[in-house]
Amino acid sequence: MRFIDLKLYNFRQFYGETPKIRLSHGDKNITVFHGMNGAGKTALLNAFTWILYGVFSKGFQKENELISKRAIAEADVGETVECYGELNFENAGTNYRIKKVVDAVVADVSSRTKERLKETTLQAQKPDGQWNTVRNIDSVIGKILPTDLHSYFFFDGERVEKIVAPSAEEKARLANAVKILLGVEPLERAIKHLNSGRKHFEKEMGRLGSDETKEAIAEKIKVDKKHESLDAKINARVKKVDNQRDIVSKLNERIAKHASVEPLTKARDDHKDRIERSRKAVNELTDRLKSVISDRAFLLHTDELKSKVSTFLSELKIKGDLPSGIKAQFVEKLIRKGTCICGRSLDPKESVEAKEAHKTVSRWLEIKGLQQIEDRALNLSANINTWGSRNKDTLEVINDINGQIKEFHNEIARSSEELEAISKKLEGSPLEEISSLESKRKSEDDLLREYIEELGSSRNMLELLAEKQVEISSKIIKLTTKDEKQKLAKERYENVDQVIKATKEVLKLMNEKWRHSLEEKIRGNFSQISVKDYTPRLNKDYSINLYDKASDREVAAGQGESLVLSFSFISSIIEEIRKLTSAHGGIYGTGNSEFPLIMDSPFGALDDINRSRVAAKISMLADQVITFVSKTQWREEVENAMQPKTNYSYVLTYHSPREDTITQDIKLGTKTYDLIKPSINDFEHTEIKEVING
Ligand SMILES: Nc1ncnc2c1ncn2[C@@H]1O[C@H](COP(=O)(O)OP(=O)(O)OP(=O)(O)O)[C@@H](O)[C@H]1O
Ligand SMILES: [Mg+2]
Repeated sequence: MRFIDLKLYNFRQFYGETPKIRLSHGDKNITVFHGMNGAGKTALLNAFTWILYGVFSKGFQKENELISKRAIAEADVGETVECYGELNFENAGTNYRIKKVVDAVVADVSSRTKERLKETTLQAQKPDGQWNTVRNIDSVIGKILPTDLHSYFFFDGERVEKIVAPSAEEKARLANAVKILLGVEPLERAIKHLNSGRKHFEKEMGRLGSDETKEAIAEKIKVDKKHESLDAKINARVKKVDNQRDIVSKLNERIAKHASVEPLTKARDDHKDRIERSRKAVNELTDRLKSVISDRAFLLHTDELKSKVSTFLSELKIKGDLPSGIKAQFVEKLIRKGTCICGRSLDPKESVEAKEAHKTVSRWLEIKGLQQIEDRALNLSANINTWGSRNKDTLEVINDINGQIKEFHNEIARSSEELEAISKKLEGSPLEEISSLESKRKSEDDLLREYIEELGSSRNMLELLAEKQVEISSKIIKLTTKDEKQKLAKERYENVDQVIKATKEVLKLMNEKWRHSLEEKIRGNFSQISVKDYTPRLNKDYSINLYDKASDREVAAGQGESLVLSFSFISSIIEEIRKLTSAHGGIYGTGNSEFPLIMDSPFGALDDINRSRVAAKISMLADQVITFVSKTQWREEVENAMQPKTNYSYVLTYHSPREDTITQDIKLGTKTYDLIKPSINDFEHTEIKEVING
């Protein structure tokens, strides 16, 4: 997909009709919009997602007030006012035009003017130049640029670091998008169908089978049902947790806005961070402890066995049974040579004596088994002696891990106490607003914790049910039967069961393979931008953590690093999608091999070095890059890196109604452009001007 141009009418501060905003592509693939705070950068980013998907970014306020306030104010009561956005784009050789219109009947001052979506139209141009209306807009757009991935293509720089710590819903969206991209959806569908096939054979076995089979099948059906309903419940609970988390974080943000409590809110963030990291460390250490215990802890219980084995071996030695004294290879060699050590012949064909001697010597071979025992016994005695020191090691390792776990628990307890104290201070704030916001935050946070616990126990329950399912299935398969019909039903059941297992395994492997390849890309991209010797790890749930290469310890990524990490993630996702696309002939076969990236204020939290590194890489992040920057973000190093790759750029001139307006301008190339100027009437609005010879 390649964006060609955008036009807005009465959309937010863009009063009236904007000019056709042409968007760069090709060698100079960057489009830059310059604007001061409030000029409409975030509004422009959202114009794209609104037109294409009808959604807005998290930082976008008042989604139901899209029509320009000035346009509404200038209209009479009862008059209908409209706003629209129109986007031209190209995909796989076809031109498309999508337009979304919202209108409102202007209400009198005492009530609110309510907006409603009037229509969305999508048209495609035929080779003869004719425009045809396309139905199923959502599905067509969703196939060209997957809806589930849209937040990676259109993102708000102020929130971009959230990408590395996705919410449950975002994780689910990404996992879903990955499924589509990998083309594994048919496999998932196959599993669904096979499952219903298995149920059919299950029923048949229940009908034909013995009482025992019938009983097992009835139990299986019951467990399956429980599993299914709990699974659905868990999905709902995940959403509930996600929503609640959002509520809490919004309250946190509102509290953090008050400068007077900044030290407290900052300390709170630090403690929360510490708790989270300690919890993670406890989990990792517990896993390590489990593996040490399962690999080596049996040694701790072998003292008695050790002395028994030693006594047994020395008894064998005393009796003369060990060592056996004669080696089987030696006897074999004598027989092969046909001569005994005493010189007698051992060839049975030679004489009666020789035959007898051959028999006697051959009998020695029967002790061959004893020889193996002898070797083992030797090994065992050597091994047994090391058990003592290995026991010491094992104990030391276990104690060390336990000690670390204890330390982290202490840290969690300390930080939790601090959090409690901070909360009390905030609640006791003389500022009414802070104290009431904090009380609300506290109760919402308690609720969040309750939901998380609920989710955790449901997940445990689900695991138990899944184990039970496997157990009953193998029991059913083990039940023997003589009846032919029953046998056939059982065989079919067994086969379907195995195909399901194998398909699930294939799915898992494909996902894993993709995740590893994505991780590699993220690492490569991260090391190109970041100056730190850190390495990112992509977790199973697509969240990312940063590790210090030297110590292999997790580091708490700062805002800037998270931002760099997010850029690495996004560009890696785009690279991977492009790779998959060329392999499968386009996502869903739509032939899309071009990807845009629309970024609002991407330089905010970056320091100079990262800023210029990101700026230098930006044109390579995607096929088409559209970015919005404020004057302070457009520094020399950014300009130098981006200008050679920028084709079209625009200035958002904000017309301010304030009498004391301080004008602002920006010099781009040889010309100076207004960023803020006084409005000629009482209304604020923004004008878009193309930069010439930028
Ligand atoms: N319907 C509307 N008509 C006119 N102006 C609006 C409308 N809705 C919101 N606004 C104005 O939009 C402004 C916010 O615009 P936006 O968030 O796009 O700015 P921005 O350029 O992203 O600023 P920043 O640099 O602070 O992120 C607010 O000041 C608000 O008054
Ligand atoms: Mg903004």
